[in-house]
Amino acid sequence: MGEEEGGNRIKGKRDPWKSLERFLVNVTDRINAVIAPDPSADPVAANKLRIASNTLEKLHWDTAERKIRWHLHWLGVDPAQQRKGIGRHLVQWGLDRAIEDKVWAGIESSAVGEKLYSSMGFKVIGERLPCIEGINMGTVMAWEPKRS
Ligand SMILES: CC(C)(COP(=O)(O)OP(=O)(O)OC[C@H]1O[C@@H](n2cnc3c(N)ncnc32)[C@H](O)[C@@H]1OP(=O)(O)O)[C@@H](O)C(=O)NCCC(=O)NCCS
Repeated sequence: MGEEEGGNRIKGKRDPWKSLERFLVNVTDRINAVIAPDPSADPVAANKLRIASNTLEKLHWDTAERKIRWHLHWLGVDPAQQRKGIGRHLVQWGLDRAIEDKVWAGIESSAVGEKLYSSMGFKVIGERLPCIEGINMGTVMAWEPKRS
């Protein structure tokens, strides 16, 4: 899960330690990708995914109020531990950050995840773009903060 601004990071409430943490995680990820690339990754599919992700960013998130948001990435629970409330707990952690910052939350959902996210107030705002032939990529979902 992470804070996003146009695919990068949130602005506004700046906590210098959070910014430093994000910076170090980013640098570590980039170094790891160069010195130890994931041998299981398909570079063609990874590139399609990157292009799809940029396209969705422009299509659904590139507005003044949605650009700054908590975007929840890659949620997965060990099949042996599913249906015990872990997924809901993890999503709630991200939603609590969005509530605290009074910003939107976003997620790219699989078919199975959609039921969970809908029950937590996310709404479908579009379809994900196909990256792998024959695979239903699911939907794009957004959670809107309550304005007081
Ligand atoms: C989606 C996922 C993360 C949910 O995690 P989880 O820990 O099992 O979720 P929870 O136990 O908190 O379930 C919360 C609710 O989500 C829904 N749900 C979860 N798994 C479901 C399933 N297999 N079929 C139908 N509904 C499901 C149910 O409404 C469930 O509430 P209930 O158990 O009271 O009926 C998990 O199924 C998973 O890792 N799936 C594979 C990866 C994936 O699709 N990730 C989502 C990509 S964004």
